[in-house]
Amino acid sequence: MIVPRLIERKRDGAELTADEWTELINAYAQNRVPDYQMSALLMACYFSGLSTTEMTALTEAMLLSGSRFDLSHLKQARIDKHSMGGVGDKTSLILAPLISCLGIAVPMISGRGLGHTGGTLDKLESIPGFRTGLSIKDSIAQIDRIGCAMVGQTAEIAPADKKIYALRDATSTVEVVQLIAASIMSKKLAESLTGLVLDVKGGSGSFLPDLKRELVLAQAMISLGVAHNCPVVALITAMDRPLGFACGNSIEVAECIDAMHGKGPEDLMTVTYALGAEMLILGGVADTHVSAHAMMKEAISSGKAAAKFEEIIHAQHGDARVVQDTDRLPQAKLQAAYKAPRSGFITRVEPRAIGHGIIALGGGRTTMEDVVDPSVGFHITAKPGMEVRAGDVIATVFAWDQGGADIGLSVLERAIAIGDKPEPFLPIISHRITTAGVEVLPS
Ligand code: URA
Repeated sequence: MIVPRLIERKRDGAELTADEWTELINAYAQNRVPDYQMSALLMACYFSGLSTTEMTALTEAMLLSGSRFDLSHLKQARIDKHSMGGVGDKTSLILAPLISCLGIAVPMISGRGLGHTGGTLDKLESIPGFRTGLSIKDSIAQIDRIGCAMVGQTAEIAPADKKIYALRDATSTVEVVQLIAASIMSKKLAESLTGLVLDVKGGSGSFLPDLKRELVLAQAMISLGVAHNCPVVALITAMDRPLGFACGNSIEVAECIDAMHGKGPEDLMTVTYALGAEMLILGGVADTHVSAHAMMKEAISSGKAAAKFEEIIHAQHGDARVVQDTDRLPQAKLQAAYKAPRSGFITRVEPRAIGHGIIALGGGRTTMEDVVDPSVGFHITAKPGMEVRAGDVIATVFAWDQGGADIGLSVLERAIAIGDKPEPFLPIISHRITTAGVEVLPS
């Protein structure tokens, strides 16, 4: 293999063979290809894209660069859910306990905050003591015991993806549909799932704010799942405003705990139940969306979902008392109310501005080494279409000091727009994509 020739061919729009991808990824994982050559190849991919054969070979090579969860001894279905990332996007924290308490094994590998989006691992780690760095062996033992583990990508899982993803992040080559699909699926397929549900975010706060590319991405991941005997269902959900009210780490955990006690915001519960219903149907536990919704509502009202969350937190060394008392989560020193500057209708709550605002408050990262303040963020009750009066409190900043509170208030001023009349916004769930095709859902 002569790497400059591969780069040259990709640069000129040709396809590499499956064998060439396999050899290249193996060599890169073993440090036999330097970063500068891989960066050049990734940039060529950015401009030329990848064929389905190339994407499949890349996924396979990244998957085989590491170990897999062997969960084949389990009798129950093994289903995970993956989100493309957003602001206030916290459904994983509710779904892992909710679905595992209904008899499905949930081996959930999540990520950290990326760009303006939050990460499930950062949220979980705001629970005092919670450990996300479990080995595959410990994760399997925990899934055997309690049906769920919520962990990060360790060096054992798709290490070639870990290395390539860091390079893509540093070289502005993340936004390639086939590279995203291969990256996500190489990790998800390592979980030896019997089904996967994808939450593909649409709208201005999504990584791919273009419906056509969102559909292509969903279909690419579905085809990779099919090739590995793992059925995949994708929903396109709105990320043109934050999901739920809480945006930040510990305040999102508190909102999820409220949701498990039956007090979740309506939009958050709509998306959570829709994704959960797909998980239950894929897992063979429910026959219809209606019965799946009823099962999930019962698991919440009976306290089963909250009890399972306590069990997961306890198993991962966290302080499970937070489930009964969210004041035990890290608390910001200051809260500052943001009042509507005029009367009218909320026309925009811009997720990117809010996500970057959380980072400015110290609740996210600009480099992987940054330490996250788990307590800061925003609680935003304003939603597009809502009518407000001047002086109404429509959001709250959670900050560490007055400087942070002032930054937060100015972020809200820029992120929230109020107009004379309501403006259109995305339906909360717009499309359902399966191997059968794309279904436009009624709004
Ligand atoms: N998340 C991933 O794991 N990989 C990508 O390429 C994008 C988002």
